[in-house]
Amino acid sequence: MTTTIKALYGGHEKLEGQTVTLKGWARSVRDGKAFAFVELSDGSVIKTCQLVIDGNNPCFETVRRLNIGAALIATGRLVNTPEARQPFELAVESIEVEGPSHPDYPLQKKRHTLEYLRTISHLRPRANIFQAVFRIRGEVSFAIHDYFHSLGFVYAHTPVITGSDAEGAPMFKISAPDSKTDFFGKPANLSGSGQLEAETFAQAFGGTYTFGPTFRAENSNTPRHASEFWMIEPEMAFCDLAGDMDNAEGLVKHIIRHVLKTCPFEMEFLNQFVDSTLIERLSAVADAEFERMEYTRAIELLEPVKNSFEYPVKWGMDLQTEHERYICEEICKKPVFLINYPKEIKAFYMRLNDDGKTVAAADLLVPYVGELIGGSQREERYDKLLERIAEAGLDPGDYGWYLDLRKYGTTRHAGYGLGLERMVMYVTGIANIRDSIPFPRTPGCF
Ligand code: 4AD
Repeated sequence: MTTTIKALYGGHEKLEGQTVTLKGWARSVRDGKAFAFVELSDGSVIKTCQLVIDGNNPCFETVRRLNIGAALIATGRLVNTPEARQPFELAVESIEVEGPSHPDYPLQKKRHTLEYLRTISHLRPRANIFQAVFRIRGEVSFAIHDYFHSLGFVYAHTPVITGSDAEGAPMFKISAPDSKTDFFGKPANLSGSGQLEAETFAQAFGGTYTFGPTFRAENSNTPRHASEFWMIEPEMAFCDLAGDMDNAEGLVKHIIRHVLKTCPFEMEFLNQFVDSTLIERLSAVADAEFERMEYTRAIELLEPVKNSFEYPVKWGMDLQTEHERYICEEICKKPVFLINYPKEIKAFYMRLNDDGKTVAAADLLVPYVGELIGGSQREERYDKLLERIAEAGLDPGDYGWYLDLRKYGTTRHAGYGLGLERMVMYVTGIANIRDSIPFPRTPGCF
């Protein structure tokens, strides 16, 4: 019976003495006079399985000559070892070498630094820590689809090549070789947000979400910014800012619960080697009520401690990560939605509040990461939106179709953007965004 290490962890007790086949890669090879031992990883779970090869077995010599990294198909008898560190091992009958490995395999049996592992991004998924992080990244993605699917939201594929600009963030321009004129008839860029297009779906399906690659040409070399990242952007018709935050809070909790349930070994590993408070912290967040605080109140609370910050604190400022982290780590000690920001520091599409100074924005700030989500209620009033487009120095001609949505059955509507990598950082405790995505794209990365 061909099986996986994950399946064996789920029911090895009942398989004592049975013959099973495992397919995977050698993590380590040790040999003595009487036995050789191979630690096999098959990628089904972060745990490995010890293969034990008797000195009299005809494959003993082959195994002794194996290099780390070799791909193997091992068949043997399952032996339960309740007294040992690992609960079972495989008493090998035969081993087939699917693909040998060279002695210079870069992932030798020692702890490598994350910086070194970044230099071998083609091999790092085989390292323990990335077995955990990238499996969790996959589970986070599944949980996101699962959440919106259960709410009946339609998954929208918004374009990667666009001519519109939602956020005012610097964009990567697209050009065609030898083209004297604009290939698309006007300047085009890689999308920095699918939100504006998602709004067209919200006004047709009620609830929708995007989940795709997003590009920003900010030259900020921080541990939280990537040039290419994945963003999830739900958009909801007949929804105000409170409904928006309810949906976002539900999503974050759903993701955390899903990961704790489906990746217990990976979470244990991260708890042991990356952040010893991780599981306890996330379990608490899954049951906590997130704080909701006015931007103006946050400034009042930051004022008395302003000397502890590099950037000065005053009403109207865009909060820096140091301020965001202080609010959720020191003041609230849990995730916080900061709401109603000054309109000058937010995008043109956010709904103007009655005070004329602030917009109905909500950013979710979480301990250790800072901003995890940015969202808002959208300006659904045609005239107000037109004014905001002009104020932002944008050409209303470029937003004709977006304005149209306010002419034909406009609704109160709201949405938000969750950065997938920031979410992965939050649930894994990984401190650098470069370690949350398989092939990070950041300034100067090639
Ligand atoms: O706050 P942002 O810029 O919001 C938007 O793009 C809106 N259109 C979202 C919406 O309302 N539909 O970005 C949303 C989130 C941030 O909170 C952050 O998690 C992530 O996207 N993000 C980045 N992640 C990694 N690298 C970057 N350079 C990022 N910029 C934003």
